[in-house]
This record gives sequence, C-alpha cells and structure tokens, in this order.
Amino acid sequence: MKKFRVLVIGIGILTGIIAGSFYLEHNKKVATIIAQRPIISSIPTISASLSTSPTPSPTPSNTCNAPLVLVDKIHALPPTYVPPDLVYISQYNIPVANTSYQIRKIVVPDLVGMIKDANAQGINLIVISPYRSYNTQAEVYDYYTRTDGVTAANQYSAIPGHSQHQLGTAIDFSTNEISNGLDQSFADTNAGKWMAENAYKYGFVLAYPIGDESITGYEYEPWHWRYMGVDNALKIKNSGLIMQQYLEKYGYLPNC
Ligand code: DAL
Ligand code: ZN
Repeated sequence: MKKFRVLVIGIGILTGIIAGSFYLEHNKKVATIIAQRPIISSIPTISASLSTSPTPSPTPSNTCNAPLVLVDKIHALPPTYVPPDLVYISQYNIPVANTSYQIRKIVVPDLVGMIKDANAQGINLIVISPYRSYNTQAEVYDYYTRTDGVTAANQYSAIPGHSQHQLGTAIDFSTNEISNGLDQSFADTNAGKWMAENAYKYGFVLAYPIGDESITGYEYEPWHWRYMGVDNALKIKNSGLIMQQYLEKYGYLPNC
C-alpha cells in the first residue's frame, strides 16, 4: 500500500514537471514573439476596402492548404486549422530566433536555398516569427490590444484566424544589421534590400507593401513574407498586382 502511495505521488510530481515545462516553453514562445513586436513610428488609421469572391477553377478540396488561399481582414481560417506538414526549422540549419519554431515542409527547400544564396552574398537573414497557431496569435493580438489599444493594434496585428502566420507559410525575417528587430528600418538594411530584389526567385512575396495600406488594411511590413511557390511568386510579380489583389482575383477562399 505504501509502495502504491509513493508511486501515485511520483506520477503526480512527474506530471506536474511535464505540464510545468510545457507551460514555460509556451510562455517563452509567446514572449519571444512579443519581444519582437513591430516598432511603428506613426500609425495612421487605415480603412481598407477589401472585397471579393475569388472564383478560380478547379478549386482544391482543402483550400486552406493551397498556396493561393486568401487570408486577410475579411477572410479567416478556422481556429482548428493546423497546417498538415509542420516541421521544426532549426533542424535545417536555418538561423531562427527560437528552436521551437515551425514552418510547413513545402517551404523548406526554397527557404534553405534563399538563406544559402543570401549568405554567400554577405547577407545575414534570420527567421524571427514563422508559424503561429490560432491560440498563439490570440495571445499576441491580445497583448498588443492591451498595450496599444484596439485601433492601433489592428494596423499591424491580425485578429486570430486572420493571420497568414497560421498558414505556416508566412515568415517574419530580420537581420543582425538591426539586432534582429522587427521594424520598418529592415527595408533599409542590406538584408531588406536583398529580399525586396530577390525573394520572389525563391517563392516569397511581400504581403503588406508600402503605399498599399488601404488595400491590405495593414501597415507597411517589410519583414513579413509569404511563401507562394516560385511559379506563383513570379506570376504575382509579372501581374503588377500586390499579393492581396492577386489573391482576390486568382486565389481561393479559405475552406477547411
Ligand atoms: N502582422 C501580421 C498582420 C499578423 O499579425 O499576421
Ligand atoms: Zn508577420
């Protein structure tokens, strides 16, 4: 009987330790994202006129997994949506702010190629914030609204379900040139300039360009890139449209 009690207490302590470490790891993750919060000098009120009913054909059966799914201030992913092929980024020797960070596997080959080519040209790049679950986005958004108020937060942070980070194909990049920070000065760094010129060759498209705030509904985010695949990125570039407009025309509504 005594042995049994010791066993039960032992299991209890072990469960506590495991649950505690999950909790700590989770908090560490959210803290990292929040520490990287965008620093925006002036926050104009943005009234976006988002529209749309994309009608391409054929429509994939699970459009949420498709590279061309439209996720914006109107179109959301369900809270239950988790990408099917998440992998840990650090295992591919890609510089990353936190070893717990994940991305969709379909992004990996081009991401590895891009970082390698950038490095070979003397460019330093690091992944600051990749996949974020619905719940993580909820915590991040909640933090920003409490800190800055809802109106300001809505200029740079997506309401849970509306973040492209939940797709597992959006990545915030930074560089040691600006101490791995996330702010608009990234655009003026060698890394930011290199990305602006070359990222499409590796399938990455800037989601929230400068001057298009009224189309996207968000502040200029030179650090936020979405992987669309090389062919799509080239098509978007050649179309003269920004990603938002292109997806409104040729993309898919979230359906999963
Ligand atoms: N910063 C972008 C808009 C997001 O929160 O997904
Ligand atoms: Zn982002």
